[in-house]
Amino acid sequence: MTGTDLDEARRFLEAGKLVAIPTETVYGLAANALDEKAVLRIFQAKNRPHFDPLIVHVSNRQLDEFDFHIPVEARELAAHHWPGPLTLLIQKPDFIPDIVCSGLNMVGLRMPDHPLTLALLEQLPFPLAAPSANPFKYVSPTTASHVEDQLGSRVDYILDGGPSTVGLESTIVSFEDPDNPKVLRLGGLPLDAIREFAANLELDLQSGSNPSAPGQMEQHYATRTPLVFTDDIESALDEYADKRIAVIGFQELENYPAALNMDLSPRGDLREAAKNLFRMLREADRPDIDLIVAVRVPNHGLGMAINDRLSRARTHVSNDLQDL
Ligand code: TXA
Ligand code: MG
Repeated sequence: MTGTDLDEARRFLEAGKLVAIPTETVYGLAANALDEKAVLRIFQAKNRPHFDPLIVHVSNRQLDEFDFHIPVEARELAAHHWPGPLTLLIQKPDFIPDIVCSGLNMVGLRMPDHPLTLALLEQLPFPLAAPSANPFKYVSPTTASHVEDQLGSRVDYILDGGPSTVGLESTIVSFEDPDNPKVLRLGGLPLDAIREFAANLELDLQSGSNPSAPGQMEQHYATRTPLVFTDDIESALDEYADKRIAVIGFQELENYPAALNMDLSPRGDLREAAKNLFRMLREADRPDIDLIVAVRVPNHGLGMAINDRLSRARTHVSNDLQDL
């Protein structure tokens, strides 16, 4: 069921059920973060392995009510960018069940910037654990209908808050060592905005083998249709001339001889590109397309996170492409 009824959403959550919530980044699949059984349902609905921890979402009132012990070094950053696309990794307080954090001693905490979800959190006596509301490893949802298409039967209620305005998941900054904050996932808050409040910020974005941020796994955010990530669309079109191709380009897209041409941002605005990225990946991911060719965007600001997602969405095994 999809709707905009906050009372309905609250009743389901209070009964330990799953509600998809709109946020400015992507839609989340939420449950009572203090209820182990409810949290377990999230992992089941997404087919998500239990070693991949969930982010806890709070409102201002809940931050006052629950003592999360945000380290002083992180407070200014949070004060400036919450609500917003920023997740802080901090020491897990005892009242958060282990299952939320996959047994790790850190918890991801975020205040989402969406009026409906903030209003919901303000009414709830508990924070919400929520990963992105997509099946494990698939592209994240940025509209209620994306959630409906893929998890519809597994979610008790979808709170429709319109299209996500940022369109990329939150940037994750670890304060495990509060003097040495580290970015574990690029996302909707650009690095420059964080550096203002965390001067010696480090990047720690290794993929695959890094258990501290499984969102960094290669082959995440993947479409079912094979995807090539390139600086040079024309060469890719030559190479795969016999394929039915969907091009995802950036700024003043040429009229390529492809089955589908999509422009992330005709006016070359990385924020607009971020907002369109996951929707366009979904639109290109259809049975009559053999291959998606996505272009690398300028690698600054939100462009870094866009390139990160596209690089993780690309098809790795070259044989897979040869067999197309
Ligand atoms: O914007 C977002 O962050 C969205 C919206 C719904 O808030 N959520 C989201 O959640 O992207 P998810 O679960 O799809 O990605 C969160 C990433 C995961 O890769 C997870 O491994 C990492 O954050 N993470 C969460 N808690 C962690 C922890 N305690 N330690 C290390 N990594 C953690
Ligand atoms: Mg996710």
